[in-house]
Amino acid sequence: MDFLELWDLRKEFGNTVAVDGISFSVQQGEVFGLLGPNGAGKSTTISMLCGLLTPTAGKIYLKGKEVTRTSQEIKKVLGLVPQDVALYPSLTARENLTFWGKMYGLSGSLLAERVDEALEYCGLSDRAKDRIETYSGGMKRRINIGAALLHKPELLIMDEPTVGIDPQSRTHILDTVLRLNAEGVTVIYTSHYMEEVEHLCSRVAIMDRGKVLALGTKDELAKMVGDADKIEIVVGESAIPALKEIEAIPEVQSVSDGSGVVTVLVKQGHERLPQILEVLLRAGVKVRSVNITEPNLESVFLSLTGRALRD
Ligand SMILES: Nc1ncnc2c1ncn2[C@@H]1O[C@H](COP(=O)(O)OP(=O)(O)OP(=O)(O)O)[C@@H](O)[C@H]1O
Ligand SMILES: [Mg+2]
Repeated sequence: MDFLELWDLRKEFGNTVAVDGISFSVQQGEVFGLLGPNGAGKSTTISMLCGLLTPTAGKIYLKGKEVTRTSQEIKKVLGLVPQDVALYPSLTARENLTFWGKMYGLSGSLLAERVDEALEYCGLSDRAKDRIETYSGGMKRRINIGAALLHKPELLIMDEPTVGIDPQSRTHILDTVLRLNAEGVTVIYTSHYMEEVEHLCSRVAIMDRGKVLALGTKDELAKMVGDADKIEIVVGESAIPALKEIEAIPEVQSVSDGSGVVTVLVKQGHERLPQILEVLLRAGVKVRSVNITEPNLESVFLSLTGRALRD
């Protein structure tokens, strides 16, 4: 039995199928990514995992016990960082955290200790006495994470914790996830930012329209789209006379030329690049810039759905 298991989970809202029969399991100690565009069903899945929404069908097991809306086990084990910040603007950060700590049944010196620890995790100890309404969006999100850590959960579920925030808070949040994971916390991380999921997650489920389209490690998923790198070369004039010669270079899978960009799909792009550039130079084509992209989760999503992850 795995740490967390989802069995053919489904949620309908009227005629909308938000989650359309998904099954996967999360191992203890991993950072598991749920990657998908707006409306994919990520938040609905998370609400069911937390016992906040009852599935239309399917089952969830946490540490072998079924999760239902009345499960007590889940409350002890799980910390949720919701997509929308859940804080009282007119209270200070410390007051907010103290409130949430009491909700988790903490009191006295243990509560004070946990609030201090949470503030330290968020990197906001020095702002503890300031009211939340004076915080930046990124700081609010960091305190929101602190609130989920007060009862030291074994499983932390984070629903798009970095949407619309400054780079400094983003980096802080990503570092916090890795730090907590190194301390043994299992994490489910939801995002539509491919880079974050690639950086943090040991395994990723790609979701779209209520379904899990693919699941695996980053490398396993990238292999689904082949192992060719994409080289995009911005050129000053038509490169058509050089295309045949580029195509003949070993390992080149395809070459195209459109809107002033030559796109080459080739294995070991970095090693093949000099040869490709040499052909262009010999043909008198002026190269303005070059970009190499290795197969990534964005290309996997594109190949599975024909759409880009971001709208
Ligand atoms: N309470 C609800 N009532 C009706 N429809 C809902 C409700 N909650 C979600 N939905 C619908 O279910 C689908 C999945 O929504 P969900 O919020 O789970 O997506 P998401 O992947 O979290 O998207 P986002 O990245 O925008 O947060 C959407 O079509 C949404 O409109
Ligand atoms: Mg959501």
